[in-house]
Amino acid sequence: MTSAIRRIGLLTGGGDCPGLNAVIRAVAKDALRAGIAVTGFHDGFLGLIENRATELTDENTSGILHTGGTILGTHNRANPSRLARGTNPDGTPCFVDCTDDCLHHLAQRGIDALVVVGGDGSMTIAADIAERGVNIIGVPKTIDNDLFGTDLTFGFLTAVQTATDAIDRVQTTAASHHRVMVVEVMGRHAGWISLYAGLAGGGDVILLPELPFSFDVVADAVMQRRRAGKRSSIIVVSEGARPRDGEQVVARIDPTSPDPIRLGGIGKVVADRVEDLTGIESRFVVLGHVQRGGSPIAADRILGTRFGHYAMGLLRSGARSRMVAMQGLSVGMLTDVDLRVPAGKQRLVPVGRGEEHALIGAARAVGTSFGV
Ligand code: F6P
Repeated sequence: MTSAIRRIGLLTGGGDCPGLNAVIRAVAKDALRAGIAVTGFHDGFLGLIENRATELTDENTSGILHTGGTILGTHNRANPSRLARGTNPDGTPCFVDCTDDCLHHLAQRGIDALVVVGGDGSMTIAADIAERGVNIIGVPKTIDNDLFGTDLTFGFLTAVQTATDAIDRVQTTAASHHRVMVVEVMGRHAGWISLYAGLAGGGDVILLPELPFSFDVVADAVMQRRRAGKRSSIIVVSEGARPRDGEQVVARIDPTSPDPIRLGGIGKVVADRVEDLTGIESRFVVLGHVQRGGSPIAADRILGTRFGHYAMGLLRSGARSRMVAMQGLSVGMLTDVDLRVPAGKQRLVPVGRGEEHALIGAARAVGTSFGV
């Protein structure tokens, strides 16, 4: 109950995304108005492990609603139960369990509950710490929109807008040169960004991780457009997409990260192969972290504020170990699920027979190929 909560902790974990500051602002202002003090930990769980934090006030949480990134900083390699510290004699990273340090720092600072803003990795860590008796409320964040248990995460719609703007820009240069332009977008193993931005940007081919594609089908779609007199073709490809007979393209592996594989590079592979198969000059662009940066669009400022407000409502009602969620996009109702729900799962684009996502049908209806 609120009367028992005098101080909350707040941290942002994992990759940053637009809208984090809207959540920080909403949680802090809501708490402060209710007489609850707020400790903001720096750099995600690393700040909790190392006991680095700032007092959040009305002043330092004002004027941040429209800003990108996170004023608290974040980290995507700081799992308290498996923190990389130094190396073993064979050169492999040495992992230590710092969970007790985290519990100690929370107690020392008089923190009664912790709000964790993050993606699947952060929610899994949060659920583990909650099992040690800490009251934690999760707020779902990621541009990838792949968090199980919620239909929407904040940051996603801004990434879609950024990718759509980029597709609009390459359209004109592609048409001027009669070229194929391949636009590689982020999303890890989920195709949400390419599906939404591909549809909004009028992509001629959209390649999703959930639908392994055939280069021949992609080349056919491009050639059909050429024969129909179209000046160019735009291919939107998820970083996690792969050909039917091939693998995902891995950009790097970081063994110290809880999520060690970084995808990237499929855009070049697609552009080269399409040029070979069609004889049409092809170029590629990798949007990369541009999709994570910059000011959140209005929808993400609103969603971040609603999520923050809902998280405080959960704390006020005495809820424990819950994650804020949005279910039913058409009505946009906020609800909450057990903090464990996202652990070890991913929310992928449904592509199976009878359950295909509505946007796939809408894209096909305007002539978009999915390379299958
Ligand atoms: O999860 C967000 C995300 O941007 C993914 O889309 C991408 O695969 C990954 O993070 C990139 O991670 P990093 O910032 O560590 O390169």
